[in-house]
Amino acid sequence: MDKLTFTQPDDWHVHLREGDALSMTVRATARCFARAIVMPNLPRPVDNIIAANTYRKQILAALPNGHKFEPLMTLYLTENLKVNDIHNAQAAGIHGVKLYPRGATTGSGFGINNIEKIYPILEAMQQNFLPLLIHGEVTDETVDVFSREAVFIDKVLVPLIKRFPKLKIVLEHISTARAVEFILSTPKHVAATITAHHLLLTRNDLLVGGLRPHHYCLPIVKTEQDKRALIKAAISGNPKFFLGTDSAPHPRTSKENACCAAGIFTAHAAIELYAEVFDQAKALDKLEGFSSFFGPDFYGLPRNRKDITLQRAPWLVPASIPFQNTQLIPFRAGESVEWKIVT
Ligand code: NCD
Ligand code: ZN
Repeated sequence: MDKLTFTQPDDWHVHLREGDALSMTVRATARCFARAIVMPNLPRPVDNIIAANTYRKQILAALPNGHKFEPLMTLYLTENLKVNDIHNAQAAGIHGVKLYPRGATTGSGFGINNIEKIYPILEAMQQNFLPLLIHGEVTDETVDVFSREAVFIDKVLVPLIKRFPKLKIVLEHISTARAVEFILSTPKHVAATITAHHLLLTRNDLLVGGLRPHHYCLPIVKTEQDKRALIKAAISGNPKFFLGTDSAPHPRTSKENACCAAGIFTAHAAIELYAEVFDQAKALDKLEGFSSFFGPDFYGLPRNRKDITLQRAPWLVPASIPFQNTQLIPFRAGESVEWKIVT
């Protein structure tokens, strides 16, 4: 198959940043996605409805003429998040609340270090069927960085689901075979997103032949066995697994640095990279469910009406992209991507 037409996809996890970053990030995401769940981990966290509305307006103002795109706003679960905002969230166009264990990743400094403190918030979310979006890694210094997701599942997520059995949960950007197996054991209202880079990379791509900062993200990419389990889940047609790029731009200087920031930018080639994975797995027929149906079904939103067409037509990713008066190194910089959107 060299051409593929299917329902326009959405991105159920993206970092658009703010200010002058938005002109690039919003264009890149709106290029192929109709909607996106926008992460709230700005330097000043988006942890109330007013801040989310302001942020939504900024995003829409950055949308290039002629593009249609709907940002789906989320709230950052900080200690300042008010129960009242949870009750009013859906009416205000909020689609989820993001939980970062404090210190787990980029922009998680306002996250939670004691989950019991937020029980009233989780109670209200459960009542309102408002999804909890989780960065599932523990931050305990004694836990190896490659084990942090698995330990989170056992130590935090299992008890959390026991305590809030009806709470809608998305375990974001899963990176391990353990997470796949766990999600398969949960009820329908617990799901997971999978990034393109976790389907394409292992830790060898990060560490062998020299350290590659542009392959560094959190959760860190894992083993070949984990990658295979993620691919199997993505192409399975099981609606518990759907697309979330976690495209997370950082300026080149923050990545090529003695202390490299976590995050991989994939929005410039997002759906095309997923198509490569599904194609290689001989499962292109499963791409539409994963990228265009299961996300909106989980979030209780209508599926998109428009189609997009992908063509097998290799193209070169630019070596760098202008970003915030400097540059960003996109995923696959200077190398080719197999599929292209036909406009
Ligand atoms: C994200 C970022 O840069 O905001 N980084 C990342 O490595 N994925 C934060 C996150 O989602 O963990
Ligand atoms: Zn993220």
